[in-house]
Amino acid sequence: MAERSIPVVALVDHRRAARPMPIPPRAERPDGQVLDRRGRPLRDLRISVTDRCNFRCSYCMPKEVFDKEHAFLPHAELLSFEEITRLAGLFALHGVKKLRITGGEPLLRKNLEILIAQLAQLRTPTGDKLDLTLTTNGSLLARKAQLLKDAGLDRVTVSLDALDDAVFRRMNDVDFPVAEVMRGIEAALAAGLAPIKVNMVVRRGVNDGQVLPMARHFREHFAHRVVLRFIEFMDVGATNGWRMDEVLPSARLLERIDAAFPLRALDPTAPGETAGRWAYADGAGEIGVISSVTQAFCGDCNRARLSTEGKLYLCLFANQGHDLRALLRDPAIDDAQIAAAIGAVWSQRADRYSELRGAVPDAPRAKLEMSYIGG
Ligand code: GTP
Ligand code: 5AD
Ligand code: SF4
Ligand code: SF4
Repeated sequence: MAERSIPVVALVDHRRAARPMPIPPRAERPDGQVLDRRGRPLRDLRISVTDRCNFRCSYCMPKEVFDKEHAFLPHAELLSFEEITRLAGLFALHGVKKLRITGGEPLLRKNLEILIAQLAQLRTPTGDKLDLTLTTNGSLLARKAQLLKDAGLDRVTVSLDALDDAVFRRMNDVDFPVAEVMRGIEAALAAGLAPIKVNMVVRRGVNDGQVLPMARHFREHFAHRVVLRFIEFMDVGATNGWRMDEVLPSARLLERIDAAFPLRALDPTAPGETAGRWAYADGAGEIGVISSVTQAFCGDCNRARLSTEGKLYLCLFANQGHDLRALLRDPAIDDAQIAAAIGAVWSQRADRYSELRGAVPDAPRAKLEMSYIGG
């Protein structure tokens, strides 16, 4: 299948723009119950630990833009592991129960297992460990799975867009083989980083021919051990030449799979879940569909995002972050004040970009890159 050429748009640098985070005059103690203006709690914090990646997926970091000239963040700009852990602990006071480490490619951040070990020590106000997980392209996973598990990582999600080696090499655009990602998945299973999820971004005309081979492979060889999830190609970023006609709606995708391997719907496991769940009727495990374009799930979105250099984003499509790093690095500001600032910002949140995209197709939107803010 030939990959269509896509228009490449120059990168607009949103990393500089950030709102200061005012500290409320009376720092109320967080009670784990903060709600935004749409009544949504804060449950999930996604932490980007690097803006670099060793892949150049055309839908995320096209080579033409992310080339030798591209200025990635210098090391001094990044939050340290101690700063990340301090913040994650404050988010836990506000009700966060799940931490997801993202990138870029998070396993490129040196000594990541040290951060994992620090985060694994955190507890919710009721004394529970946080669910600690990581999204990776799998390229370094065979080497690192056991180390990560030993450090306290609970589970991983691996991105894999095709089973066919030629299609996959073309999609990652660095000639990376499928077999090596599979070795990573095997290593993660062996280390007990379960349940493992595999995310496939589907682009019509590019890799939709891989939907059935992927479904077949994972149900035959990994039933009940891996949950394969199909993601609608989203209009994140400014560089990937997104077009609606490259989105394969999940409803169509499910028809295709159901015709080959009959499916039945499953109930969600948690409110605010990104994926709709389906089981194979013959008992060979389950799949998920993430339909952020055709069936937005903003209604109970409980996710906040922390960028590599410490900006807080309240939506994947937010046009500005809030500068948490400035608070962290100000010796006159203490934890209670930072926690109060986080609570105040969340309580003002009203974002629901994906819902609006459907209602107002030409609504203005931000151009944050997925490689900067994570998936
Ligand atoms: P689990 O807890 O394992 O189910 O993880 P998750 O689905 O919350 O996280 P994951 O990183 O696997 O997300 C999968 C994909 O869903 C991402 O790569 C995005 O494409 C999409 N996604 C995740 N969160 C959001 C969100 O808040 N808004 C939108 N529009 N898409 C999202
Ligand atoms: N649409 C949907 N998902 C995307 N990802 C990256 N860019 C997009 C996009 N345009 C996903 C990757 C990976 C996670 C980091 O984000 O496939 O699973
Ligand atoms: Fe890297 Fe993931 Fe983006 Fe591909 S989708 S370029 S693997 S961050
Ligand atoms: Fe949440 Fe924004 Fe995604 Fe909607 S578009 S689900 S509000 S992150």
